[in-house]
Amino acid sequence: MQAHGVLVRVRVPGSAIAPAPAPRRRPCRVSAAAAATAVRSRVTHSMPPEKAEVFRSLEGWASRSLLPLLKPVEGCWQPTDFLPDSSSEMFEHEVRELRARAAGLPDDYFVVLVGDMVTEEALPTYQTMINTLDGVRDETGASACPWAVWTRAWTAEENRHGDILGKYMYLSGRVDMRMVEKTVQYLIGSGMDPGTENNPYLGFVYTSFQERATAVSHGNTARLARAHGDDVLARACGTIAADEKRHETAYGRIVEQLLRLDPDGAVLAVADMMRKRITMPAHLMHDGRDMGLFDHFAAVAQRLGVYTARDYADIVEFLVKRWKLETLEGGLTGEGRRARDFVCGLPQRMRRASERAEDRAKKDEPRKVKFSWIFDREVTL
Ligand SMILES: [Fe+2]
Ligand SMILES: [Fe+2]
Repeated sequence: MQAHGVLVRVRVPGSAIAPAPAPRRRPCRVSAAAAATAVRSRVTHSMPPEKAEVFRSLEGWASRSLLPLLKPVEGCWQPTDFLPDSSSEMFEHEVRELRARAAGLPDDYFVVLVGDMVTEEALPTYQTMINTLDGVRDETGASACPWAVWTRAWTAEENRHGDILGKYMYLSGRVDMRMVEKTVQYLIGSGMDPGTENNPYLGFVYTSFQERATAVSHGNTARLARAHGDDVLARACGTIAADEKRHETAYGRIVEQLLRLDPDGAVLAVADMMRKRITMPAHLMHDGRDMGLFDHFAAVAQRLGVYTARDYADIVEFLVKRWKLETLEGGLTGEGRRARDFVCGLPQRMRRASERAEDRAKKDEPRKVKFSWIFDREVTL
């Protein structure tokens, strides 16, 4: 999970990328110190208790089809595989080489890389979020239930992502690490608000989307690192992207099973998450200075093509195809059919809206913003 976010500045009627809908319950707000962003109101425990049986019935399937998607630790890459070896006499030489490669990367690239890294580093929040989900949470902290085994091992795999990016940045000398570290502390303190309502149907739609979004984003930071001559960073980002793809496969399979066992409930969940829009995990990002930090980071990611409004539409389209929603017929109520039709038509509507937004944006004067992460240097949004 933990895709970094993009602020999609378009409005599509009823779409996933429109601003959050009117609250269903009284909204609460995070403290001004934590972030400027309002937290959406929450519905809690929206899965009817009897549907927990769906997840119990899938435990055997999860052991057979989900857990094998995890890689044994002994076969996993680790951050040090991509970094100078601090126990070696060559360490200083290797650090100089790393810094020489990093010198070719522009400031705006570092803004996006930092935003990605900060997003990954808020991993405690994401594990917490998954453990809010009824019927699949880790009840003890070391439960042998396959859902819990998955979540812990997934977290352990994810933990390497922020680690490698952070160590690389530290050695590169290109970013103000103290400001980056503060941003991570603020973000973990703020939490996130994905609107998943303790409901694993919603939760796994959300994670399916987010894992793909992170795969896209890290894939693009890999591509740009290579274009700017940093092949080691390119390999690191590409390796992270491959992890995200594997995780996306897992979460996508869970939703596939839900569509098989409970097509109406599952398609309603897909539509619900899309209507609410997929809130990005780091939407409460703050560095103690810039009250619009997340929006500014997302705007740079959009401009560099690391994660864009088009990517959002592509991900929705991909999921519609992956889950064969267009041909989903059996077991649907009228409401389910309307939900299906809404989701299937969404990518096209989003693309049209993003094209209009791009046309409007072309008429705007380019705006520059200072980022504390790069010593208050200015970057064009
Ligand atoms: Fe992920
Ligand atoms: Fe990740």
